[in-house]
Amino acid sequence: MRICLHALLLSSSLLLTACTTGAPPPPEAQADARTEALIARMTVEEKVGQLSLYGPADTNIPGNPAANQRNAQVEIDEVRAGRVTGLFNNEGLARKLRLQQVAVRESRLGIPLLYGADVIHGFRTIFPMPLAETASWEPELAERTARAAAVEASADGFRWTFAPMLDIARDARWGRGIEGIGEDPYLGSLFAAARVRGFQGPDLSRGDALLATPKHFAAYGAAEGGLDYNTTDISERTLREVYLPPFKAAVDAGALSMMSAFNEISGIPSIANPALLTGVLHREWQFQGFVVSDYTADEELIAHGYAASGREAAKQAFLAGTDVSMQSGLYMRELPGLVASGEVPMARLDDAVRRVLRVKHKLGLFEHPFRGLEGPPAAERPSDPATLALARESARRSVVLLKNEGELLPLQKAGQKIALVGPFASGTQDLLGAWSLFPGQAAPVGIDDGLRAALGDPASLTVVRGSNVDTALAGGIEAAVAAARAADVVVLAVGESERMSGESRSRTDIGLPQAQQDLAEAVAATGKPVVVLLSNGRAMALRGAVRNARAILVTWFLGVQTGHAIADVVFGDFNPSGRLPVSFPQTAGQVPFYYAHKRTGRPLPDNDAQMAFRTRYLDTTNQALFPFGWGMGYAPVRYDGVALGSERVAPGGALDVRATVTNTGRRETEEVVQLYIAKRAASVTRPVRELKAFRKVRLAAGESKAVEFRLAAADLAFMGRDMKPVVEPGEFDLWVAPSAAGGIRKRFVLAGE
Ligand code: NOJ
Repeated sequence: MRICLHALLLSSSLLLTACTTGAPPPPEAQADARTEALIARMTVEEKVGQLSLYGPADTNIPGNPAANQRNAQVEIDEVRAGRVTGLFNNEGLARKLRLQQVAVRESRLGIPLLYGADVIHGFRTIFPMPLAETASWEPELAERTARAAAVEASADGFRWTFAPMLDIARDARWGRGIEGIGEDPYLGSLFAAARVRGFQGPDLSRGDALLATPKHFAAYGAAEGGLDYNTTDISERTLREVYLPPFKAAVDAGALSMMSAFNEISGIPSIANPALLTGVLHREWQFQGFVVSDYTADEELIAHGYAASGREAAKQAFLAGTDVSMQSGLYMRELPGLVASGEVPMARLDDAVRRVLRVKHKLGLFEHPFRGLEGPPAAERPSDPATLALARESARRSVVLLKNEGELLPLQKAGQKIALVGPFASGTQDLLGAWSLFPGQAAPVGIDDGLRAALGDPASLTVVRGSNVDTALAGGIEAAVAAARAADVVVLAVGESERMSGESRSRTDIGLPQAQQDLAEAVAATGKPVVVLLSNGRAMALRGAVRNARAILVTWFLGVQTGHAIADVVFGDFNPSGRLPVSFPQTAGQVPFYYAHKRTGRPLPDNDAQMAFRTRYLDTTNQALFPFGWGMGYAPVRYDGVALGSERVAPGGALDVRATVTNTGRRETEEVVQLYIAKRAASVTRPVRELKAFRKVRLAAGESKAVEFRLAAADLAFMGRDMKPVVEPGEFDLWVAPSAAGGIRKRFVLAGE
């Protein structure tokens, strides 16, 4: 009877059918019916309210420029009037609860607010930056850290994150690469899906699920000159083959919101690009969620020169498919008038509102609007030791050992005097990375504290700053040199500060700041063996004493457990197993630099430095200094026995590939066995190599393991001339390799129909 009444109220044919058959409608259908019933009752202004998102009142939103700030009273009034769909970043728990009460109890339709935040690499417990974690080549690890972040953030009332960031970045000058997934679409897609699964959990309606927002759609990372927000001008092929696949993977993994990007592509700003937002996202990928703009990006159409007025900007962005406006308030100012004039059809408005309300239903917000809002606030809750342990695990798995001459690493915990030198040697600065802005975060463990905690005799460690990040320190070099002379080994903690990467932090010079280079040269001149710990938000161009150090560990920004994780690796309690998700070039002049480049008509054979009229620079090789996929453990690994199931693959068939990897050292190690292919000739040119699969295997000292791959015909597909996936018969090269350079090569033929 209750259902019949409900059905009549909502006048939903679906529910009426269910009523007559006696079976209750499935929950999804009930939610859809409630959504339709709400839409039927909403004024245009209330509809636009569901498309209007703001940062907190009376305060600058961390990580964003001050824009369109409102005061606390206006915020409450607007929520009460149904003119706000949600709020984001640091609203404060008590305030969030109050505003939700106003939305649910005092607004006409009682639609709950959705609270969002930039939960990029943890909420209270800060994990490594996403690029660092991608260096683990363990998507399941990223899934676990995203889950843990979701549990913490949702306990503070947030149900929506503006993550994962899925912009492929091949130009190290761009500052935001550190927020993302590196240079490769295959590796990036695995991490994209894993992070979506982690944030959203098994069921979005659970109180600890965070709605994921893949961003920035699309090709934001292809900004010209690596300059943030800059123009992108790439072919549709590059867009589809390189930049879109991680987003597709995220949609397939169930992401139900998406952020359109700041940048234009070939003259059309992404936020107002119907081919991208409606064509690709809705039609091709059947995306069921909603698109949110980036911060004030709708208004920025005017600065782009794409719209002459706010009214036109709102119209362009909205009609193209950006459903929700972030921070500008532009939709609220302009859409009601545009609907009244018929320039924006009511059907489009309803479609956008429907998308938002459906997601709010899926999140269970209508049933449980106060979940996570009733405290205690994150800062007052004891932190979970398991989450902290996960932070340490993910941090040490993110570290990449680039070189280790003469097995300098691991260091001894006793009997060795260590000089820890550099601007990152001590303190808690520059360890977390960008986007660590929430209350209750514990201070990170400094590198010195981490090393000291691991040492048998803490007095065997001397710590000297030596220089600032980009300015000299009076007497710093002298003190560092003295410490180096008195030590058996120098650990040189140098690199970029966390303010040198992230949004709006592009650099033309991707090397070490000169003050630190001077420090490194002086310390190296003592002749003491040097281990470099590189703090970095991008692939860097290393030179001089840093490049020539006997050991280099890439440590990125590792989060709250930095010091312990580094100590684990430095002293060999954990064998490094990370691999580069970005190529390290020889010099900044080579960027954009990535392994999967095209061959050209005049490739340079064997990097022969004497050949003219070839694709080469006069002053450097074409090879990476450290290639994509590169990284070492503390034991060497031999590859052999690479065998194909057959050298001829039938149309639609699969190719089995087998290899043996052997740990020839004295310690356990983990190896990332990578499989690349290249098609020799095709109807459109193909990259020199493309990653198609990998396995991370653990090998005890002396152990051999067989590694098996199966490549399906679909794995050989690429975008044909018509931009549709095609599998073409012909000859392929295949490598089983420890990185994108080298490896054991085989050849196979895919037979024609
Ligand atoms: C701008 C950034 O581009 C985006 O990634 C972020 O989510 C928003 N600001 C909100 O803070």
